Amino acid sequence: MEKLEQLYEGKAKKVFKTAEPDVLIVSYKDDATAFNGEKKGTIVGKGAINNRMTNHLFKLLEKKGVPTHFIEELNDRETAVKAVEIVPLEVIVRNYSAGSFAKKLGMEEGIKLKTPTLEFSYKDDDLGDPFINGYYALALDLATQEEIDKIASYAFKVNETLINYFDNLGIDLIDFKIEFGRYKKDIILADEISPDTCRLWDKNTHEKLDKDRFRRDLGGVEDAYAEVFRRLGIN
Ligand code: TMP
Repeated sequence: MEKLEQLYEGKAKKVFKTAEPDVLIVSYKDDATAFNGEKKGTIVGKGAINNRMTNHLFKLLEKKGVPTHFIEELNDRETAVKAVEIVPLEVIVRNYSAGSFAKKLGMEEGIKLKTPTLEFSYKDDDLGDPFINGYYALALDLATQEEIDKIASYAFKVNETLINYFDNLGIDLIDFKIEFGRYKKDIILADEISPDTCRLWDKNTHEKLDKDRFRRDLGGVEDAYAEVFRRLGIN
């Protein structure tokens, strides 16, 4: 499949047109940012790991009944995907206290929540992706009630599937962020699922195996990504 002109360059990926209007090529970069782009760096090998991990998990999720944008992995860094219109919501599911949740509620990190939570951020870099609820999403015309209901139901299905999947790899899924797109009047999972977008802690040692190592200058960033990838057993 041939890459035509670049449509968009984001913080972690580039998106290219193809000869088919419904198909795009996503190219994953090694660039890493945090705090809305204020902190910048490189995580060597991240692009390939995130590409291959996302595709692996999206194939699993398809089998579990969650439709995704995945079409075909083209090479280590590049994947053909369905051209969606991204719903401008960051959909965050949490199983344990961590990050902004722990800070906001004055909690220690790593406390198991009684039930998983679901929250939305409005995807707008100028505003710093503010926390909103479903009523805001409706009022701002970001999504319909039917879309929000579908998104919530898919998000919990993704959570259930990934908790089990990572548990078998000796990893606790602390929380994650996903994004959805509109495709032929349906809602499908888009973007990525990777150590950039999940908190993944080793079950036994509670060592962080995700982008928090970069965000918080903990060191061993590349090793953490490589360890998650090794446990996936894709190679
Ligand atoms: P938070 O605790 O900082 O709100 O993050 C919740 C989850 O969302 C965590 O797994 C990291 C992920 N995340 C992103 O993927 N992109 C972002 O821009 C932010 C802030 C968090």
